[in-house]
Order: sequence, then structure tokens, then C-alpha cells
Amino acid sequence: MPKDSHSSAPAFAHTFNPFDGEQHRDPFALFEQMRREQPVFWSPALGMWVVSRHADICSVLRDPERFTSLDAYAIGAEFTPEAAARLATGHPLTRTLLDNDGAEHARLRRIVGSALNGKKVEQWRPRIRALAGELLDAFAGAGRVDIAAAFAEPFPLRVILDMLGVPLADLPQIKRWSDDWFELLFARVPPEQQVARVESYLEFQRYCDRMIDARTTSPGQDALSEMLQAGRAEQVPPSRAELISLISGAFIAAGHETTSRMLCNTLRVLLTTPGAWAAIVADPGRIARDLEEALRVEGTALGMLRVTTAEVVLGGQTIPAGARIYVLYASGSRDEQQFRCPAQFDPARANVMDHLGFGRGAHYCVGALLARAQARIALELFAERLPGLRLAAEPAPVYRSHVTIRGPVSLWLEWDVG
Ligand code: HEM
Repeated sequence: MPKDSHSSAPAFAHTFNPFDGEQHRDPFALFEQMRREQPVFWSPALGMWVVSRHADICSVLRDPERFTSLDAYAIGAEFTPEAAARLATGHPLTRTLLDNDGAEHARLRRIVGSALNGKKVEQWRPRIRALAGELLDAFAGAGRVDIAAAFAEPFPLRVILDMLGVPLADLPQIKRWSDDWFELLFARVPPEQQVARVESYLEFQRYCDRMIDARTTSPGQDALSEMLQAGRAEQVPPSRAELISLISGAFIAAGHETTSRMLCNTLRVLLTTPGAWAAIVADPGRIARDLEEALRVEGTALGMLRVTTAEVVLGGQTIPAGARIYVLYASGSRDEQQFRCPAQFDPARANVMDHLGFGRGAHYCVGALLARAQARIALELFAERLPGLRLAAEPAPVYRSHVTIRGPVSLWLEWDVG
């Protein structure tokens, strides 16, 4: 921590707190103030430097040598001794993609990417559409639903598990395991709850172990078989522990909550912007651009972490080596120096693709094509079958504490039936 951080920190440095779920509802005025007054600042509450402008964020992302992802999430750093001891009884935690860099990152990224490239996503499209349709069938006649619970949460997880060749009956259990683990890493779980979460993760590891065994003896067309094959082609094949981290972390954990929140954010912006939903219903061809603009204006990826490897000067601030950097993507995507009228939902803007919704550079979201495919398919189906969709007057959308992801965890929608 810098010596003078408290005395020189701007007021918002003490206010900004992604662990306060209420702030996720509308953090954009605060972000605007950050960009204007002190675009790079030390946050005493987070113990990190926050970077809020598009250009500064891009400088960080372009320079992995000085701003590394290596151990940026420092897995295990805040575990209680009891939780750490239980964790040590399972497969060792290994770096995956988000917390890795250089050749090791590239090697693991090739393995995960083999199952998520354009060709693979294209092959899964009919199945993704069928899974979305099944969920929609269950509530289309109701006229009112919490779309987070009924669709946005189960849909991406179903897609990922289906791709991995996992029976859908195991979904609730996997969701619990994955949530327990993700919260342990990102949501400041109280010490007394940590051991139970670790036990849950160990069960998740054993489940993955069995899956890998099964696919090794009888490979299929699924994403896990694909990753196992890609792994065998590597000069340094992935260890069992690495494979488990890739399945549980890079695939399941990274791939479902993000997409769930993005679907809710997208629906919310489309249904609150006058004329936007009607325009999609009239011309579903607009969905692809609208989606990119929703990713920009309602940032789902709030921010991600990096660590400095040397003293750096950024946004006029001198940051020491070894400091944690929080690149605030949801702010960069609203930067007035990058986007004209940044708060306005305007899919026709020329630079609609310049958003930071999937990051940038070597760590650009490896699941972006899958996430886009899911959102497009969902919106196409909704436009076709629920053209009169609107936001319910109440209850209000609910947001929750999270350091990397933002978006409604409850979003009530209505439409006319019969
Ligand atoms: C709309 C949904 C999604 C959003 C908003 C999102 C956002 C992001 C962002 C911002 C990053 C960059 C991280 C960084 O800069 O450090 C990222 C990376 C990543 N995403 Fe996504 N993601 C989504 C969907 C998915 C899906 C569906 C998957 C997999 C099935 C996935 C897997 C990953 C992985 C493994 C990384 C790490 C890549 C690397 O470090 O090389 N994501 N994602």
C-alpha cells in the first residue's frame, strides 16, 4: 500500500465497493466521476489500484510483462488454516487461464479453445436452440416470470454441461459445487463457512475425476473428449489436476454465471430503452449488434485483476511493483473519450465493437463465441415467442455483491398470454 494512499485518496476511493451489491445496480455515475477526477486511484477498501479509463485499461492489457495475470487472484491467500488443510487433501489447485501468463497460459488456452472455437460452437447451435426452447416452453404460458431463475441461470449451465457430456440431472448438484467454489474465491466467504465450501469443492473434484476417467476410456463428440484429445497433442500434456481445474474453472465456473448475468443485463437494457425490443421483434437481424451494444453499456464483466511486475506510471500515478490492479472494464466501456454519448444505448455507433465486455489481448474471453451464440439464440426465441415482453413494474431487479461480475440475479418480466 502506498504511504500516502489514505491522505491523497479521492472520496470515491472509500465509497467504491463491488462487495456492496446495491452499488451494482447503477455504478455508472461513480465510474464517470472516477474517469473525470482521478482515473487511476488506490482503493483502501479493496487493497487494489483501480483503473477506470478505456485507454489506460488497454495499456494494461497490452502489456502482460508489466501487468501480469500470473497469480492475480492469489488462490488460497485468504483461506483459514483449516480450510487450507482440507483443500490440501484433494488434487492440488493449479493455475488455469485467468491467473496464468506466457507459454503455460498459451498451452492451456489451446486445450480449452479446441472445444470453444467457431466450428465447435456452430456444431452445438441446434442443441443450444433446443435447450433454450425447452426452458421457454416451461414458462411461456405464465405471462410473468423471474427470467433469471427460469431461464438466464439454468440455460448457460445446461449448455456447458451438455457440451461436456454431463447428464442434466446432475445440474443442481454441479451448480451448488460451482457456486460454493466461486464464492470462496471471489466473494469473501466468512471464515466459519470456508471448510464446508472446501468440502464441496473436493466433491466437485471427485466428480470431474470420474468424468475424465469415463471419457478417456470411451471418447465421444463432447467438449471434454475434445479437450482430452487436444491435451494429448501438446508437448507437455495437461496433468490430471490441470484438467480438473480447466473443467471446473475455465469451463463450468467461468462460463455460466457470466452468461447468466449478461442475459439479464441485455434483456433489461433492451426492455428499458424505448423502441429497442420492438425493433428486434420487427427485425431479429439486429440482435448481433444490439448484443454488442448491451455488452458495452451494461458491463457484465465489472473488472478483472492484474499484478504489476515493476514500478509503473499509469494515469499519472506511480504504482509500485507487486501491486494488485483492478481494471474496471464496465467503466472503460462507458468512457466518454472512447464513445460518444456513452450512456446511450446506440447499436448503430460505428465503434460498437470497441467495448471491453470480453476483455482484450491474450486473456480475451475464450468463451466469447459461445456466449454470443447463446444470447443470440435466446433473444431470437424470445422475439419470436414473447414479442410483447416487458419489464414488470415490480419487484425491482436484485443485484448482489461480486468483485468481477455484475447483473441482476432476479429480473421479473411480463407479457400477455392467450
Ligand atoms: C457473456 C458472458 C461472458 C462474459 C461477459 C465473459 C467475460 C470475460 C472477460 C472480461 C474475460 C477476460 C478476463 C481478463 O481480462 O483477465 C474472460 C475470460 C475468460 N472467459 Fe469469459 N465471459 C463470458 C462467457 C464465457 C464462457 C461461456 C466461457 C466458457 C465456456 C468463458 C470462459 C472464459 C475463460 C476460460 C477466460 C480466461 C481466458 C484467458 O485468461 O485466456 N467465458 N471472460
